[in-house]
Amino acid sequence: MDYHIEELISEEKIEKRIAELAKQLDEEYAGKEIHLVVILKGSVFFACELAKRLTVPVTLDFMAVSSYGDGMVSAGEITVKKELDEDIADKEVLIVEDILDSGVTLYNLKILLAARNPKSLKIITLLDKKENHEAGIKADYVGFDIPNKFVVGYGLDYAQKHRNLPYVGVVIPD
Ligand code: PRP
Repeated sequence: MDYHIEELISEEKIEKRIAELAKQLDEEYAGKEIHLVVILKGSVFFACELAKRLTVPVTLDFMAVSSYGDGMVSAGEITVKKELDEDIADKEVLIVEDILDSGVTLYNLKILLAARNPKSLKIITLLDKKENHEAGIKADYVGFDIPNKFVVGYGLDYAQKHRNLPYVGVVIPD
């Protein structure tokens, strides 16, 4: 497919919003330590920018999950492809996602991680496609609400490409 990418959210807007989110987290987690659980791969870009702006103590770990088995769109379960290195029991866990789309991934991930007894378990997502949610899940912190379009950049890919774009763009078929 031939396509081009149209900018949806500029780098400047993203950075400004991440700074606001970091300030909000600093206030809400004052006196505590945040343990970021970064969901590979797409969330890495957002997680780094967010973590750099936090002033409360931060630790972080990575996890890779796959929510769709055999091409099914809502398998309703997740497969853990890379497990966390550390135990999350008694930690103030904040799951970092690049996008909440159908919500299936986060719905299942939250159940999985909640069973490990963290002190708290919240979700932050850079992008939220609210109109596409199928699973009953809501992020605690949202960067931007976006329309139900195919987006790339700032960690998000199309066939593994365009993750490194510094802005979020929409894929438009030519
Ligand atoms: C994306 C995104 C979420 C998930 C959201 O990951 O990072 O984890 O899809 O979709 P959902 O709300 O419909 O479940 P993806 O599986 O594409 O992996 P990637 O980050 O490695 O590209």
